[in-house]
Amino acid sequence: KIIIVDFGSQYTQLIARRVRELNVYCEIHPFNNLKEMDDSVKAVILSGSPFSVRDENAPQIDLTNIKGKMPLLGVCYGAQYMAQHFGGQVLPSETREYGRANLSFVSQSNPFMKGISDNSQVWMSHGDTIKQVADNFEIIASTEDVKVAAYHIQGEDTYGIQFHPEVYHSTEGLELLRNFIVNVAGCSQNWTAASFAETSIQELRDKIGNDKVVLGLSGGVDSSVAAMLLKEAIGDNLYCIFVDNGLLRKNEFEQVLEQYKFLGLNIKGVDAKSRFYEALAGESDPEKKRKAIGRVFIEVFDDEAHELTDISWLAQGTIYPDVIESVSATGGPSATIKSHHNVGGLPDFMKLKIVEPLRLLFKDEVRRVGKALGLPDNLLGRHPFPGPGLAIRILGDITPEKVRLLQEADAVFIDGLKKAGLYDKVWQAGVILLPVQSVGVMGDERTYENAVALRAVESTDGMTADWVHLPYEFLAKTSNEIINKVKGVNRVVYDISSKPPATIEWE
Ligand code: XMP
Repeated sequence: KIIIVDFGSQYTQLIARRVRELNVYCEIHPFNNLKEMDDSVKAVILSGSPFSVRDENAPQIDLTNIKGKMPLLGVCYGAQYMAQHFGGQVLPSETREYGRANLSFVSQSNPFMKGISDNSQVWMSHGDTIKQVADNFEIIASTEDVKVAAYHIQGEDTYGIQFHPEVYHSTEGLELLRNFIVNVAGCSQNWTAASFAETSIQELRDKIGNDKVVLGLSGGVDSSVAAMLLKEAIGDNLYCIFVDNGLLRKNEFEQVLEQYKFLGLNIKGVDAKSRFYEALAGESDPEKKRKAIGRVFIEVFDDEAHELTDISWLAQGTIYPDVIESVSATGGPSATIKSHHNVGGLPDFMKLKIVEPLRLLFKDEVRRVGKALGLPDNLLGRHPFPGPGLAIRILGDITPEKVRLLQEADAVFIDGLKKAGLYDKVWQAGVILLPVQSVGVMGDERTYENAVALRAVESTDGMTADWVHLPYEFLAKTSNEIINKVKGVNRVVYDISSKPPATIEWE
């Protein structure tokens, strides 16, 4: 495997994803909590950082057991850090070195630069620049403005690049990473979704043995893939629970339950609609609604788990971005770990051990593993859907009638996206029921009914998002269909806010 040392750059995860795209396994470790380098580590990559190497509190790392002992690549801050610590000089750059640049010199004979074109486009993002390097540093690439765009420390497999090979705008960036991983570090590219599935099924088997495991399915990609891995590993000792909280999409509970059964999962569907509606009755504060849903979910899940005997494990669909120890923005030593929030956490009174089969995977990898396990595309390509479901798309208090109305409108929108071939082009979409009534006219009648908002966004991780420019014709058709079919709605608006400053959901 490859270890990526994180100095807090926004691009660190991207480096990891690129390395894995090259079918090589890698892990991200915070600079201030490095593990011992054992034989399994084939190379180390130092990330960028929001810090300058000249800052007093700049992140430091002890490279004694790494540099010269194994292949090492510094990216941006990582490159500047090594240049500065090993006899060179880093200063603030005179011209701002951000964005697009083109290489003007490439040392083709160097294994790291092999095949990289002379004027390759690269992406810079740094306020400092390497002014001087020690004598044993060989410059292997330059741009017009940046002489030391890449260097090689002679006599060892140590490299530095001041630009970012991990971003798409560096057009041959993946090529460079491949050169480092394959030509320099000699890694074999055999870490694939199928190989991951195979090894993790064996590992789960060894770990769990004949124990029984309970898992909460949500209909989403992560919990579904986790369930399939466990099913392959332990068969009918996996007990799945799928709760109908009354806040799912139209017919979703029945359809998804059917599909899970078809996949051979040992699953129990629990109709807990009324328990959720009771807990939500009269509550219109968004945070209190979320809390109530989380609480009831745990109660229901716990009741169901108690029906089962001899359960010793709780499986969760936690994925890698949830478990990477983040280097805090201040670079301080207090690394925090984010915890998963979908299942609502484990109540103390359920003393179960936790198993998280996806904790090493990024979202796109979860999909690929799901595909390797034979999960159908319609399940793997589903839009994300929030744990509290339609409750956070009904502004104000929840009633079964409002849920029904929203389900109808949502179904028109989502089915329409599918029919128009737009569903897969959108990251997430849904309808929001507004606490607003307005005057309309239908036939000769005056109406005074609800307004709904359509929301469709493009995003990669939900952290930032932009509204999708859906075709006017499609919006016109959808609006018309909702108003005609969904009794109680006489006005449809389209949400054209980006995140930030808005959020994807309205509550
Ligand atoms: P926001 O509204 O914060 O949403 O822009 C970002 C993404 O997170 C989803 N979301 C949730 N998912 N439990 C979840 O499992 C929640 O409480 C929750 N709140 C928001 C939202 O659908 C979007 O994909």
